[in-house]
Amino acid sequence: MINADVREIGANLNNSFKPSFNLKAVTNWSQLTPFEFWKELGNPKYVCAPMVDQSELAFRIICRKYGTDLTYTPMIHSVLFATQEKYRAQHLKDISLEEQPCFLQFCGHDPEMLLRSAKIVEDKTPCFDLNLGCPQGIAKRGYYGSFLLENTDLVLKILGYLSNNLKCGVSCKIRLFPDLSRTFDLVENLEKTGIKVLAVHGRTKEQNKESTGNADWKAIRKIKSILNIPVIANGGIECYEDVRRCFDATNCDAVMSAEKLLENPFFFSGINHNIDDVALEYLEIAKELNTDINQVRSHLYKLYYHACKLDMSYNHKLGITNTHDDFIALGEEIKEFRKNIPNEDKFGWYKRYRNSVANLKETNDKEQTCTEEFIYDFNSMFG
Ligand SMILES: Cc1cc2nc3c(=O)[nH]c(=O)nc-3n(C[C@H](O)[C@H](O)[C@H](O)COP(=O)(O)O)c2cc1C
Repeated sequence: MINADVREIGANLNNSFKPSFNLKAVTNWSQLTPFEFWKELGNPKYVCAPMVDQSELAFRIICRKYGTDLTYTPMIHSVLFATQEKYRAQHLKDISLEEQPCFLQFCGHDPEMLLRSAKIVEDKTPCFDLNLGCPQGIAKRGYYGSFLLENTDLVLKILGYLSNNLKCGVSCKIRLFPDLSRTFDLVENLEKTGIKVLAVHGRTKEQNKESTGNADWKAIRKIKSILNIPVIANGGIECYEDVRRCFDATNCDAVMSAEKLLENPFFFSGINHNIDDVALEYLEIAKELNTDINQVRSHLYKLYYHACKLDMSYNHKLGITNTHDDFIALGEEIKEFRKNIPNEDKFGWYKRYRNSVANLKETNDKEQTCTEEFIYDFNSMFG
């Protein structure tokens, strides 16, 4: 059902789904060498990061229409997915055979639960991805993400087990250890498990929230230089020029962005589209797919950050709107409201978010109050 919807939406979006990519054309993803695998994906360069509650199907579709080559689902919990029907159905609805290539990201530490989950989806994706980067308290309690990464033996066991038992490929997304030489040893061992792709967020798990700081692209370059598999660089992409800078600095096969895409889903296209039109396009897709209204709301806080700054009543309206149609009407209103403002002036969430996280405790102006709402919204999504 959902795939028919997506095909139609794809047609409306003027071939947003690369017609050349056919998931079913390859039946042996796991048998390919990492670079054969990468080639079958179409040698992707621009990647939309996994984002809890934010890299949902509607958002992936809009990113893909505007230049993103490869997407990731939000992280899915393997135990809940394997054992709870409602949770499973909810996440299966978010996976599309048309919106491809899309890596399905899972978390967990139990090899059997991970395999059980992976078996359910191995025909629906070229790649099953293990989250080894989540730094949040919830990951500590659940013993997954960057906390699991500390247990190298278990990580290697899980990835080897998955690689040997799945039809699709296996990948993982890591953070750096503060001790870089430990990171370099780790990635060499990760490669030996048979993973096809490694995504590296160039920050440590301690670089989180107020302490996020810069991503270490030099460390990513070193990782790329010692491995013989495709490596995706992630972290710190703030503007279009950063994409080229990141390729040059890391020599990686692809660049992944999360927060910048939230502010500007057409960012990877390098073209200055009208953000208000693109936001409305997103809203139409979200309505068509019946996307969770709170996920839509979260997106709109970033897409309309600048409008809310100009007129605080939009902040309130975003908070109380509760249907897709009403969000579309609000989107039309905002488009009209800022029709005379140059497109490039309509952004600001990304930078504002970064600055305000750093200064959160020091300032207390009206604008800051507005921003805090965004930060709350942001933090509630990922732990
Ligand atoms: C809202 C949000 C949700 C996220 N959820 C996930 C997730 O589910 N899995 C994951 O591996 N990383 C997750 N991340 C981290 C991003 O994938 C990415 O590694 C991080 O934001 C750094 O990239 P950036 O500098 O381009 O934002 C999330 C980030 C954000 C902003």
